[in-house]
Amino acid sequence: MKSELNGKTILLGVSGGIAAYKTPELVRLLKKAGASVQVFMTEPAKQFVTPVTLGTVSENPVLSDVFPGNREGSWTVHIHQARRAALFIVAPATANTLAKLAHGHADNMLTTTYLALPPEVPVLIVPAMDTDMFVHPATQANLEILRGRGHVILPPDDGPLASGLSGPGRMPEPAKIAETAAGILKSEPKILAGKRVLISAGPTREPIDPVRFISNYSSGKMGFALAETAARLGAEVTLVSGPVHLSDPAGLRVIRVESALEMQKALESEFPRTDLLIMAAAVADYRVETVAGSKIKKEDSGNLELKLVKNPDILAGLGKKKKHQTLVGFALETDRIVENATRKLKEKNLDAIVLNRANEPGAGFETDTNIVKILFPDGTVTEFSKMLKKDLAGQILSVCSRVMEHNHV
Ligand code: PMT
Repeated sequence: MKSELNGKTILLGVSGGIAAYKTPELVRLLKKAGASVQVFMTEPAKQFVTPVTLGTVSENPVLSDVFPGNREGSWTVHIHQARRAALFIVAPATANTLAKLAHGHADNMLTTTYLALPPEVPVLIVPAMDTDMFVHPATQANLEILRGRGHVILPPDDGPLASGLSGPGRMPEPAKIAETAAGILKSEPKILAGKRVLISAGPTREPIDPVRFISNYSSGKMGFALAETAARLGAEVTLVSGPVHLSDPAGLRVIRVESALEMQKALESEFPRTDLLIMAAAVADYRVETVAGSKIKKEDSGNLELKLVKNPDILAGLGKKKKHQTLVGFALETDRIVENATRKLKEKNLDAIVLNRANEPGAGFETDTNIVKILFPDGTVTEFSKMLKKDLAGQILSVCSRVMEHNHV
């Protein structure tokens, strides 16, 4: 455990539950493993453990006030603290603090600092409360939101509670929290170091007139998760994205496009200097043959007929040009799924295809999770259970890295 925590700055948010009395021991363990610890306390937390105790064991004054009375110009402390964090832990996380974190409240130093965290800082949340509060649908819904953001939730232990009742709600022992923190900070091997990875994401928009278009439901979440993870795994990443509401991830190059023809142009120009292409975009198969120069008025005709022409199959085109590149496609299917995906794998000359269903809850468009099978040209299939797209991205890229090794890239 020592090496993962050594030299890291850990922000520990303590909210007001009885389990707060265990936090000095948690601070002691983190410090013993070589971390520097900054504690943030909510006002109610001070009913259970004193700032003097936590300030002493952490060797840092505890922070509670966003506007500390007499320290001029120091109201940006939460920003500076957030930017130096290797990990943000909330332990114990009360039902109230969970709700505030889930919904973006910024009404104390703990919640304000959480909102100021750069996106790459991992968050470990340790809920602790009475069982009825923990199992309440509101608390569970808030936990689901936080889980969906990729935060690690360490579930409470089951056992006797301060109320005299018994059930899930006890904060796990400090040693378990410190061990989980170390696991999160364990550095991943940079399996894609030195590789140039090209990823497509999102839908394409095919214009009808200056105000209308044909498109699909792709949110870009799958492609963006792949791009961010590939960058974290050491790759030099270019992300070509159709119109989505996601902001540019840090540490990689993003090319924004609108239509299938624009996406084709961007991908074709990047392809020669690419080692691995993953096509997660949902490219529109058709576009309107003649785009109207001005808004089509409904008064001008009864029904409107549009002539659609086929868009180029970008991936199939790149499959024909493939030299040293490893090519991975996606297949979004509703029926005869394996048969259709296998056909696409062969026709597009791919090294693997990631099959997901459009009509399965928790899979495909827009959701934070996906359920996939990866099919290979030799007929083997690797299946994955439902998981966050962010986690699945790591699994897919680890498969890609093995395929590239096999292809001697
Ligand atoms: O963006 P999200 O909301 O997170 O949703 C993720 C996703 C469902 C979009 C993603 O997981 C996915 O399945 N992407 C591929 C969708 C798709 O277009 O599948 P397809 O079976 O129609 O196409 C097969 C492959 O050919 C795909 O890699 C596609 O990018 C590519 N293609 C398709 C048509 C076309 N004209 N050119 C292409 O290159």
